[in-house]
Amino acid sequence: MDAKRQVVNFGAGPAKLPRSVLLEAQKELVDYKGLGISVLEMSHRTSDFSKIINTAENLLRELLNIPENYKVIFLQGGGSGQFSAVPLNLIGLKEGRCADYVVTGAWSAKAAKEAEKYAKVNIVHPKLGSYTKIPDTSSWNLKPDASYVYYCANETVHGVEFDFVPDVRGTVLVCDMSSNFLSRPVDVSKFGVIFAGAQKNAGCAGVTVVIVREDLLGFALKECPIVLDYKVQAGNGSLYNTPPCYSIYIMSLVLEWIKNNGGTPAMDKQSSIKSQMIYDIIDKSNGFYVCPVEKKSQSRMNIPFRIGNIKGDEALEKKFLDKAVELNMISLKGHRLAGAVNAEVSAFPAGRDNEVHPVSLCSNFYG
Ligand SMILES: Cc1ncc(COP(=O)(O)O)c(C=O)c1O
Repeated sequence: MDAKRQVVNFGAGPAKLPRSVLLEAQKELVDYKGLGISVLEMSHRTSDFSKIINTAENLLRELLNIPENYKVIFLQGGGSGQFSAVPLNLIGLKEGRCADYVVTGAWSAKAAKEAEKYAKVNIVHPKLGSYTKIPDTSSWNLKPDASYVYYCANETVHGVEFDFVPDVRGTVLVCDMSSNFLSRPVDVSKFGVIFAGAQKNAGCAGVTVVIVREDLLGFALKECPIVLDYKVQAGNGSLYNTPPCYSIYIMSLVLEWIKNNGGTPAMDKQSSIKSQMIYDIIDKSNGFYVCPVEKKSQSRMNIPFRIGNIKGDEALEKKFLDKAVELNMISLKGHRLAGAVNAEVSAFPAGRDNEVHPVSLCSNFYG
């Protein structure tokens, strides 16, 4: 595949895919493994598709060492669909219909707002003036009658990442891992539910992975749409309705790539090295680059920063982004809610090798 233009894509998601995955998909697009049809045309009820979905599940189980008492399901509706699915499936675990939320950025804020439709939502910490840190766990007021505690492991817009799994004293723990999924080993047994949209770290848009502990199945509210009901989907091997077949196929290729490239320990190491290179430049720039996030909560996936001063010098930031485009670096512009620049250094842990790193741009622009 000869791409006419060689670009470096820092998009947060849909994000870059490993080139070998794209090439494999291209090779198999029209005729999948000699079957004479494309995966795009394949019935989800065939044994050939069973092999694809089973491969994806088995690879995920292997990469994350998922215990046997957890189900892995592949759903549609994205991370946002899970903002609804989580309360719809879990709020019924306890009578009080109350849920604890840790709100550290735009995505957990959205999840908490959606949950308010179905639950009494308790934000466990004092309200934050800005999303630049994880509030000290000693300030958290966890409710004993909460059905679950919810948090977002990596806030993609604000660049705030947990480097620990919160201790929630036995309450069911739910985590949105959309933007740091598979970027480090995780002890799945500490969670009730983990979910992640694939388009950032594990494939393309269209499929959301949900890993759910078996004893949490069967508590869905009657209002829960059947396609979001974890028990129904787990009981049907994610095939209650037509799943996003092609997205699951792409995910299986990506998971294989991650496995062949050292698994989550290797992704962990790479994410640290790559992000640290940027943070080093920021730290040594005498305030020219400013990352507003407190050091110990700085994301290894995406690094929002301002240029010129803490509020950002608009002209300088424009110049920086123009320079990036000139160098064929795309999607470095930050989210309107956070920094002007958002360097997605490792949002896709798999895909950042052998590329011009924004480090060179940052250091040259400063120097
Ligand atoms: C951490 C996080 N959670 C949830 C979402 C929402 O995902 P979706 O667009 O798939 O609904 C995003 C999207 O960027 C995200 O970054």
